[in-house]
Amino acid sequence: KIIPVLLSGGTGSRLWPLSRQNYPKQLLRLTGRETLLQQAAERVSDRSVFEAPIVVANAQHRFTIAEQLREIGISDARIVLEPASRNTAPASAAAALVAIRQQPEAILLITPTDHAIENIDAFRAAIAKGIEWARKGLFVLFAIRPSAPETGFGYIHLGQCLEPDDVCEVRGFREKPDLATAEQFFRSGAYAWNSGIFLLSAQRLLNELATWEPALLNACEHSVRAASADLDFLRLESEAFSRATDISLDHAVLERTHNMAAVLSPFSWHDIGSWSAIWGREHKDGRANVVSGQVFLQDTEGSYIRSEGPLIATMGIRNLIVVATSDAILVAERDHAQDVRKLVDDMKGQG
Ligand code: GDD
Ligand code: MG
Repeated sequence: KIIPVLLSGGTGSRLWPLSRQNYPKQLLRLTGRETLLQQAAERVSDRSVFEAPIVVANAQHRFTIAEQLREIGISDARIVLEPASRNTAPASAAAALVAIRQQPEAILLITPTDHAIENIDAFRAAIAKGIEWARKGLFVLFAIRPSAPETGFGYIHLGQCLEPDDVCEVRGFREKPDLATAEQFFRSGAYAWNSGIFLLSAQRLLNELATWEPALLNACEHSVRAASADLDFLRLESEAFSRATDISLDHAVLERTHNMAAVLSPFSWHDIGSWSAIWGREHKDGRANVVSGQVFLQDTEGSYIRSEGPLIATMGIRNLIVVATSDAILVAERDHAQDVRKLVDDMKGQG
């Protein structure tokens, strides 16, 4: 069986002001009835295929996470708590170390919690295609056919594909290229987006980190060895964990390693990364607006208007994002939705 690892430690700052440090996007009901964390946990809840999940998250969110999992009937998760966010490489390393302690042969499905996947059967079928390769020691990625030269994703350079399973050789990997490179990748047709979902043995992941980021692995080993149980949580030891290099798994391993394979994913996959992404996939009115909460629109087009409290009235606007909460309002051009992360950083800089 596969051990799912749910990475739930991002802040989702591009979805400010709804997504906040103490309430990041994976814990919000952004689309649909369930939060993104709940959707991710449900995708891997079939206990005939998956073991109980390991959830890696910031200590600050532990009760919300436990509660959200309970709400969907998951009571067996192991929740590993980070004292501070060090990005996805240390988070995945910690999960692999916890998993391997219990099961030396563990196969992990590392998955982000900031996605929507519509066709769960297709998702499971893709995992079934990858599992043999993961057992053979390959690092299995799930490739998404790109629909635009997005710069917010990793790109997988695909080689030969094996029919009938559509499992492809991987020639290389490039995380978040600049626009010119993304356009070139997109035009060439030989590249796919990285879904951020990985299937591999815990041992392979640890071997990779030992090769490329030995100091990071060392810090995580100390931190897991000295971790303390707190209620149902496992608290990583803080001093060692904070020494781990702050780097994503994509930069730390995928851009450097070989022996990867990619399953061409038949499931429909959406990154819920920015307001424009949410606008793109939600149901629109006759003038291409997506609205939520108390809003009143006049002569408004192509906009995402969402209120969590106050009444929003708009007039004569095009292609804007307007999101209001009780204490903050964002107004942005829809095309600038990717820059909200920077806006939030700049605001922090001002104290
Ligand atoms: N536990 C933990 N700790 N989780 C984290 C941390 C951390 O420090 N940082 C991020 N995460 C979680 C996020 O909550 C998210 O679910 C997942 O890890 C991926 O992190 P993101 O920060 O959202 O990565 P990204 O979107 O910039 O890029 C990744 O995903 C893309 C697909 O959406 C990369 O894998 C890209 O190559 C990929 O295309
Ligand atoms: Mg993301």
